[in-house]
Amino acid sequence: GAARFFLRGNFCLLLTGYLAKQPSLRAILRDPRGCEGLRGLVEEQVRVCRRQVEAMDAVKRGAELAVEECQHQFHSRRWNCSTLQGLQVFGKVTIQGTRESAFIHAISAAGVAFAVTRACSRGELEKCGCDRKIRGVSPEGFQWSGCSDNLSYGIAFSQAFVDNPERSRGISSSRALMNLHNNEAGRKALLAHMKLECKCHGVSGSCEVRTCWKVMPPFRKVGNILKEKFEGATEVHPKRVGSRKLLVPKSSRFKPYTAHDLVYLLASPDFCDRDPRHGVFGTYGRRCNRTSPAMDGCELLCCGRGFHTAQAEVVERCSCKFRWCCSVKCKQCRHLVEVHSCR
Ligand SMILES: *[C@@H]1O[C@H](CO)[C@@H](O)[C@H](O)[C@H]1NC(C)=O
Ligand SMILES: *[C@@H]1O[C@H](CO)[C@@H](O)[C@H](O)[C@H]1NC(C)=O
Ligand SMILES: *[C@@H]1O[C@H](CO)[C@@H](O)[C@H](O)[C@H]1NC(C)=O
Repeated sequence: GAARFFLRGNFCLLLTGYLAKQPSLRAILRDPRGCEGLRGLVEEQVRVCRRQVEAMDAVKRGAELAVEECQHQFHSRRWNCSTLQGLQVFGKVTIQGTRESAFIHAISAAGVAFAVTRACSRGELEKCGCDRKIRGVSPEGFQWSGCSDNLSYGIAFSQAFVDNPERSRGISSSRALMNLHNNEAGRKALLAHMKLECKCHGVSGSCEVRTCWKVMPPFRKVGNILKEKFEGATEVHPKRVGSRKLLVPKSSRFKPYTAHDLVYLLASPDFCDRDPRHGVFGTYGRRCNRTSPAMDGCELLCCGRGFHTAQAEVVERCSCKFRWCCSVKCKQCRHLVEVHSCR
């Protein structure tokens, strides 16, 4: 019906929130409709779900990671990622096409790739495992061994699952091009920051032999990278080049963007006023910092409307003493602080 159609166009905004909250693998398996019982999926996603239903818990976990990370990265901004808190958004979602939407797509695509890869490495999925094929001695002289995270399955899964609503809309839509680019940039943030972990072997830790394997970066790191990409995102517009449509920087003064950068088509709204029909919560009641000149400061966060001040009691550990050996004893101190919240 109409709801289903609506959800398609806003896949990342809503499905990310939806999947993060709703059905576990067990619930899907218990539901006689199986994958068809999941609302908001396009046909091809239902097919991916049927082929690989055991991965659906990882998809859910990936969506949860994306929501948590988004809320962490944006907690002190006017738009605090609460759009993802559920399915309550109806009507045209205001952030479509903006840099906020670019961030959501990137973090969601990365979250699904991350969680599926982790499930592979833990042996939770039948169709993938960890990478034990890297063998032998590296040029740096260490021995490859153990379980390296094999990103290729998780990345391919994320491409099949997260990109699909965009592909089914057709590559000629500028919005679809934008979303696909940002999805890929999210996965690149993960791929480009694989780390080496090593263990030393030898008499009393002498490290005669070092064995190493590759691991994904912590998801927080992916969030930090994508937040930076958000700050430096490039505004683009569609341009026909031969028979293809490309997104090119809106101004020739902008540097060309790379596959790792985020792009957006539309300027963001100011997010000041509450407009639930369009998924904007406004900043009324938000905590702000009276002295900060940045986005978390009362001036900017409250959009010039001013703020209320109240007293709040905080309990802290204080007068801590180190005791030989080895503990720390503290007292509990209570004091009053002023908290400010937007009018
Ligand atoms: C990593 O996973 C891909 C896709 O599942 C598979 O084709 C490849 O062989 C795996 N690589 C290793 C080294 O295990
Ligand atoms: C985001 O802000 C809204 C109010 O504007 C608030 O209700 C919500 O709890 C906040 N969400 C987070 C995750 O901080
Ligand atoms: C408020 O902002 C100032 C200046 O940026 C900073 O030094 C201070 O730690 C912040 N206070 C709180 C409670 O975050």
